[in-house]
Amino acid sequence: MGINWRQKLHLEPQVGWLNDPNGLSWFNGKYHVYFQYCSDSPDGTCGKEWGHFESSDFLRWQFTGKVLFQDCDWDRNGVYSGCGVAEEDVLHLFYTGNVLHPGEYDYITAGREANVIHVHTQDGHNMGVKQLVLKNSDYPNCTCHVRDPKIFRIDNGQWCMALGARNLENEGCALLYISDNLENWQYSATLKSDIPMGFMWECPEIFDLIRDGKTTRLLSVCLQGASCYIRESHNIFLSGYFKLQQNFDKTSVSDFHEWDMGFDFYAPQSFEGPDGRRFMIAWMGMPDPDYSNPTLEFGWQHCLTLPCEISVDDKGRVCRNPVRELNKLRQNETIIQENKKAMIQLPFELSAYPTDDFSLIIEESLELTYDSKSGVVELCFKDPLLGAGRSSRKANMDVCQSLLVIVDASSVEIFLENGLCVFSTRFYPSTEHVSVCLSGVSGNVFHLQSMDIAYKA
Ligand code: FRU
Repeated sequence: MGINWRQKLHLEPQVGWLNDPNGLSWFNGKYHVYFQYCSDSPDGTCGKEWGHFESSDFLRWQFTGKVLFQDCDWDRNGVYSGCGVAEEDVLHLFYTGNVLHPGEYDYITAGREANVIHVHTQDGHNMGVKQLVLKNSDYPNCTCHVRDPKIFRIDNGQWCMALGARNLENEGCALLYISDNLENWQYSATLKSDIPMGFMWECPEIFDLIRDGKTTRLLSVCLQGASCYIRESHNIFLSGYFKLQQNFDKTSVSDFHEWDMGFDFYAPQSFEGPDGRRFMIAWMGMPDPDYSNPTLEFGWQHCLTLPCEISVDDKGRVCRNPVRELNKLRQNETIIQENKKAMIQLPFELSAYPTDDFSLIIEESLELTYDSKSGVVELCFKDPLLGAGRSSRKANMDVCQSLLVIVDASSVEIFLENGLCVFSTRFYPSTEHVSVCLSGVSGNVFHLQSMDIAYKA
């Protein structure tokens, strides 16, 4: 069965483990997608390094292999997550070098180094000399858990780096550093929520979305130990955003929104494309879940999400939708009538425009239901085998009048109400044709051609 679960529209390594996307950038006429990679252990237990994919159109990809290795004293135990900054003919990469000192340490307050390392490349894969730019003593009031540099330009033209951290009071926060030249970094501020949310923040980033001249500034971040603040049926770790004041010196943020309401979405990273669109890709997985992925026994685990565009709608709400480039993969449109079961070949795209309650059932087991009275949308696996232990996730929506579902060989991504609410999940069907039944609405289906992913021999 394993081979049928290989994704046709999602980036994944052929062997080993993948987690966070890293260094996302448009550079030298190509999109560069690096990722946390353990080529030797599909369970992710060996030291993390960076793998690399590139593409000029989001459709034809080249995997160029492992490009950043744990090969110096600053990153002995892992080349952890980080970002890319494209400047003329150089792509600057920044990441966390993880170092664990041998001994009797808790590795929270002692025994761990979190080094910010800068390296540059002119072709995306051959790397220059590594330089240490920040180390533990540069992180005020913090434990040794500080990581995931993400750099952006601030309004006055300087660079700002956000780092995820766990402070000495065991609260999650983001540290901000400023630089004129990407080499020398000065501590500037710490961002926290007014009520401490969780013990650790990972993968923070700040970016602006502009619509009709109005700027919405977001702090996107992954919260560990904060799920109790959000809702009853939740993921162990949360990935979402705070809306920030224009002046993000403010050290108080509130009003957290999750990026995704499904089972498998974490550590998203965004970047700006050549035409000004803001793209986002995430790890289609979750740290320490109580469900699994049966591909593990075939030697690989995890993929990235579809590349999406992040935007603000006319009501100022943040939306996430698949990039329009994917429309080029559409083939053979068919209609599926309400309450008529259809067998559809993977991968496919389904869209529908309900006006009231509706449901979608895939493989008699994966059910998406919207109840307009309660305003609850639920994604539920009736058969735990199809979801490899995944159960149910819910979200609240006042209205739900558009449904776009992209189903790949082993994943389902559901975009509701023009991307206002998204559910992402892995699933493991036993055939390449799955049954689909819509109630309350009929829909359109396109079979999707596979992306072209070339793996280096
Ligand atoms: C998030 C994360 C990052 C870290 C990386 C290590 O999933 O824990 O904080 O840099 O994964 O692989």
